[in-house]
Amino acid sequence: MNSRKFYIKTFGCQMNEYDSNKISDLLKSISFDKTEKIDDADCIVFNTCHIREKATQKVYSDIGKNKKIFKNKSKPIFVLAGCVAQAESSVVFEKSDYVDIVVGPQAYHKLPNLIEKFKKNKKRSVDTNLNVDEKFDVLNSLKNNLSKVSSFVTVQEGCDKFCKFCVVPYTRGPEFSRNHKTIINEIKSLTENGTKEIILLGQNVSAYKDENVTLAKLIKKIANINEVQRIRFTTSHPNDFDDELISLFGEEPKLMPQLHLPVQSGSDKVLKLMNRNHTRDDYLKLIDRFRLTRPDIQFSSDFIVGYPGETHEDHKDTINLIKDVGFSLSYSFIYSQRPGTPATNLDEISIEITKKRLEEVQGILFKQQLEFNNYMVNKENNVLFENKTQDQEQFFGRNQYMVPVFVKNNLIKAGEIKKIFIQNANRNNLFGKIV
Ligand code: SAH
Ligand code: SF4
Ligand code: F3S
Repeated sequence: MNSRKFYIKTFGCQMNEYDSNKISDLLKSISFDKTEKIDDADCIVFNTCHIREKATQKVYSDIGKNKKIFKNKSKPIFVLAGCVAQAESSVVFEKSDYVDIVVGPQAYHKLPNLIEKFKKNKKRSVDTNLNVDEKFDVLNSLKNNLSKVSSFVTVQEGCDKFCKFCVVPYTRGPEFSRNHKTIINEIKSLTENGTKEIILLGQNVSAYKDENVTLAKLIKKIANINEVQRIRFTTSHPNDFDDELISLFGEEPKLMPQLHLPVQSGSDKVLKLMNRNHTRDDYLKLIDRFRLTRPDIQFSSDFIVGYPGETHEDHKDTINLIKDVGFSLSYSFIYSQRPGTPATNLDEISIEITKKRLEEVQGILFKQQLEFNNYMVNKENNVLFENKTQDQEQFFGRNQYMVPVFVKNNLIKAGEIKKIFIQNANRNNLFGKIV
């Protein structure tokens, strides 16, 4: 046991979760122990998200709460990492006098140094360099401490698409693909710790390319690792699929039949305004190509409602697209103006109208999600089990389509794939028994 402890809180997307695990490994390497009790910590890391205004506000309100916890104690070293750190850089210090170190998503490998330096000179510091290459060089040499059945592995970072509403190209920087050999090594070491499912991450993961290794070729290499039972990847842009990747869904049984394919809007006009660079028809044709190679494939998506310029007609186009595709799960958000993005100065449409549209969009999306889950009832699903629930009563796993499945049974072990007869469903979960 070390006497120094750190606490880490993760906001935002799966890539931040992956990064938080790496930050934890880095801090352990300079003899910090991880604590789940925030008031025990000598060092606190907030790994933050900047995607919508609310996400950023939450970070600052949580910093305020944190301050209160330590009112009568000595102040921990406070690190602000992630996308808010990258976007706001030293402005963070103007907004909060509580933060000691600001470190962006491509610079956090330098945290051990930054923390030791701060301990010596007590000087606040900012590092928002975008040197991804150097980051992965450091991370590749870290010992992996995680043992999870389903593990994220970042293979690609950054985005060159510049959708007009989005901060990601600025917070994560330009597209970068990791060396495929180090990815395979990382996955092998994860499987030694019990991982059975690999979820490949990237802001534009289907654009992955390292020398001649595309995402399809990378998946084939991963599928050759015996211990890996399931492979998924997220998030993809509709414009980055090659034939080999689409065909793989029909050829590679380890590649699961579920794909997150954000479309944002069903209106050609809005797609153009957003700079998505594809039409509604392109999207629908792509969906058809996937269904041709893998008939049972399910799609999830993201939608932005109330983008500047969206008319009633455009909204109807979105509703119709949702009906045409039939999504098994989706996320929908009210458009949020983001500083520094091209859309930020456009006239916003009224919040009353937007809220009504969001309700309508969510109404159908939720209905489709429930219908899909109900469709599973009285069928057998292959479920990869991950862990017991908190009350220790049930085992939690996911079926091939990513839907959470709960089973009451004491004989199940984490990491097993079992045939489960689905007895009940609600919008988010399935419940069943071993066949
Ligand atoms: N790389 C992915 C998604 C990145 S962000 C893609 O290309 O789709 C995740 C989701 O947040 C986006 O799909 C979008 O629906 C939403 N989002 C991004 N910026 C937003 C904004 N300014 N307001 C509301 N939602 C936003
Ligand atoms: Fe953002 Fe568009 Fe890039 Fe996705 S593709 S991360 S929405 S800019
Ligand atoms: Fe948020 Fe950054 Fe992820 S803005 S969604 S944490 S890439």
